Amino acid sequence: DSAEIEQCFEVALGLVKEAGQVVREAIKKQKTIETKSCNVDLVTESDKAVEKLLIEGLAKAFPSHKFIGEESTAAGAKCVLTHDPTWIIDPIDGTMNFVHSLPYTCVSVGLWAGKEALVGIIFNPILDQMFIAKKGQGAYLNGERIRVSGQKDLSQALIFAEMGTSRDPEKVKTVLTNLTTLMPRAHGIRAMGSCALNMAMVALGGADVVFEFGIHAWDTAAAAVVVAEAGGVVLDTAGGPFDLMRRRVLCASSPELAQEVAGLLTQYQPTPDGDL
Ligand code: IPD
Repeated sequence: DSAEIEQCFEVALGLVKEAGQVVREAIKKQKTIETKSCNVDLVTESDKAVEKLLIEGLAKAFPSHKFIGEESTAAGAKCVLTHDPTWIIDPIDGTMNFVHSLPYTCVSVGLWAGKEALVGIIFNPILDQMFIAKKGQGAYLNGERIRVSGQKDLSQALIFAEMGTSRDPEKVKTVLTNLTTLMPRAHGIRAMGSCALNMAMVALGGADVVFEFGIHAWDTAAAAVVVAEAGGVVLDTAGGPFDLMRRRVLCASSPELAQEVAGLLTQYQPTPDGDL
C-alpha cells in the first residue's frame, strides 16, 4: 500500500544520498579498474562499495525483499525478477564516465513488485541532480515536478543513442546502422554514457528519444517509473511492451515518436538477463 511504498522510498532515498557521497568523493581520486564482459565493460572498487552499502541498508530495513544488483550479478548472483518486492540497483551507472571523472554518472535504485515499477531514484551526486518518482505520484527533479517535452516530430527530436559496452561485431554494426538511419532524420544525436540519466533527460524534457540494445535490468529499473510518471513512454525497441529483462529499451516523449523510431531501428537481441 501507499504507506509501505512511502517507507521504502524514504529508506532508499537516505541510502542513495549516502551512496552519492561515496561517489562524489571517489570521482576525484585514482580508481582501481577491473573489466567484466569485455575491456570496455568496467567496474571499480566504488561500484562494489556502493552496491554493498545499498543492499546492506535495504536488507536491514526490509529483510523479506529481494535484490538484483549489477555487481552482485557480475559476482555470480542469480538475476531473476519474481512478483516479490525487488530492489534493482546500479551502484554507478556510467562507470566509464566515472572512471574518466566526467560528471554524467549516477546511482540508480528501483523498487519493483508484481513485475511493476513502484519507486525510482536516480541521483547524479556530482551535479546534485536527484530524480525521483513513485507510481501514480509524478516525477520530480530536486523537488520540482518534471514532464517530457511531448515532441512528436522526428525532425525536431534530440535522440540519445549509446555505443554500449559490447564490442561484438554484430552489435557494433547494429549501433552504427541505427546512427546512419537516424542521423539525417533527427534534429540531433548524442551518446552521453549513462542509460539511467539519458532516460531521466527524457523525463525532464531535455531529450526526446532514448534507445539502446544491450542494457541490463539495473540500467532501466528506476528510470522506467521516472519516465512514465513524467508522461513519457517506455517500450521495447521494436515498439511492443517493455520487458525489464530483455535488455532492450526505447523511451520517448510521445507514443507517436516512439513508434516512428521503433519502425526505423535495425533490431538486435542480446542474451536476456537471467539467461546469461
Ligand atoms: C552502462 C551505461 C551506458 C550504456 C551501457 C551500460 P554501467 O552502465 O548505462 O550508457 O551504454 O550499456 O552498461 O555499466 O556504467 O552501469
